[in-house]
Amino acid sequence: MASLWGGRFEKEMDELVKQFNASIGFDKRTYNEDIDGSIAHVTMLGEQGIVAKDEADRIIMGLEAIRKKISCGEIIFNVDDEDIHMGIESRLIAEIGDVGKKLHTARSRNDQCQVDMRMYLKKEIREIIGRLVYLESVILKKAEKYADIITVGFTHIQHAQPITIGFIFMAYFQMFRRDIGRLMDTYDRMNLCPLGACAMAGTTLPTNRHRTAEILGFAGPTENAMDSVSDRDYSLEFLSDASISMMHLSRWAEEFVWWNSQEFGFIDIDDSYCTGSSIMPQKKNPDMAELLRGKVGRVYGDLMQLLTVMKGTPLAYNKDFQEDKEGLFDAVDTWKASIQIFANMLEKTEFNIERIERLLSKGFLNATDIAEHFAKQGIPFREAHAIVGRMVKACEQRGCDFVDLTEEELQIIDERVDKTSLGDISIKACVEARVSYGGTAPVEVRRQIAEGTSWLESLEELE
Ligand code: ARG
Repeated sequence: MASLWGGRFEKEMDELVKQFNASIGFDKRTYNEDIDGSIAHVTMLGEQGIVAKDEADRIIMGLEAIRKKISCGEIIFNVDDEDIHMGIESRLIAEIGDVGKKLHTARSRNDQCQVDMRMYLKKEIREIIGRLVYLESVILKKAEKYADIITVGFTHIQHAQPITIGFIFMAYFQMFRRDIGRLMDTYDRMNLCPLGACAMAGTTLPTNRHRTAEILGFAGPTENAMDSVSDRDYSLEFLSDASISMMHLSRWAEEFVWWNSQEFGFIDIDDSYCTGSSIMPQKKNPDMAELLRGKVGRVYGDLMQLLTVMKGTPLAYNKDFQEDKEGLFDAVDTWKASIQIFANMLEKTEFNIERIERLLSKGFLNATDIAEHFAKQGIPFREAHAIVGRMVKACEQRGCDFVDLTEEELQIIDERVDKTSLGDISIKACVEARVSYGGTAPVEVRRQIAEGTSWLESLEELE
């Protein structure tokens, strides 16, 4: 089959070249966007008198007929189609005859592939934000449920300070909140329509790019034709948003893996989100959490791939840019699935409160609080820190806890301290006293939950 661009060629394309060159295998995913873009384009051509009104109408009907045939599997694309743009255009000409040849007036595949990708990505961003919003709502629900339940807070994976489980949930809530914000920023910046930029320099025909932008739901047309066909930074921004968010998911997934271990025993991941071993009958493995941790690798790879493709490419369009699609599709699919799996797994996960309580007595979790009690009594914090350090040492030597130290022992450590100056150092009292803004006290966590809830409710749909 001769290509639509075959006029100046004397030989058919080499078979291997055809396969190497074709993007139809993956860009067919954007067939709906391609047809929407073509309909907007030909509507504008009709309004501007560049094609006759009835010709525009026939082309639109033809395009709708092709959309139907693609969606019910009647049209199967192959390498002869090269890409989705030519696949649809050649079908259109076959369907409605010569008038179909007018569709490609005042546009190029260089702007066409970009309008398709921007529309596709806008749709997917809306979908991904929807999934992140769902994840946030699950987090808020769990945070409320566990707002008073105390657990071990770690730094360096060493027992550090007592915190509430709700507090952990709200930490992740903030990360995903920023992920949503980043996606919204990306969406805002990319919401301009490149259609009509043509190959690189615009056109001599009296087009109306504002009109096509409006029909397709963009905020306006892109400013510079050459930039319009060469820019892929909206994809890079998206991939970087995806990488950061997948990194957040992978961090929590990692915590799930060790919380679920025999050593920690903090959680019991629902059976429906675990798998077994083909040899060890007793095993119940947290595979979903591990996969989530692993999937981040491919998304980083997708970002690195496109950064590398774009590096050093001169203006304007280069065929290198065709490599902007598969990684992006992969990142969209991976990120979407990961959010969904994680949200569902989270919803089904409960904490083993008794087991966690048993660990709270280990690791001197209240050491900082004692130092703060001393500081409140006028001992400079740096000295209070040293006193508590000596108390820890004494406890370790005796194999006891702070409350077991006698008056004499305390006096030897520092004469300014005694049993009453320790204050209430029960783990519960320590947590409840951490009421500083953003702190872990249940009342403060509930404030964070309320603030997060009103932010989530105030989110508006992207246009
Ligand atoms: N399939 C191409 C891509 O995705 C479309 C643009 C082709 N343009 C060209 N001049 N060869 O980048």
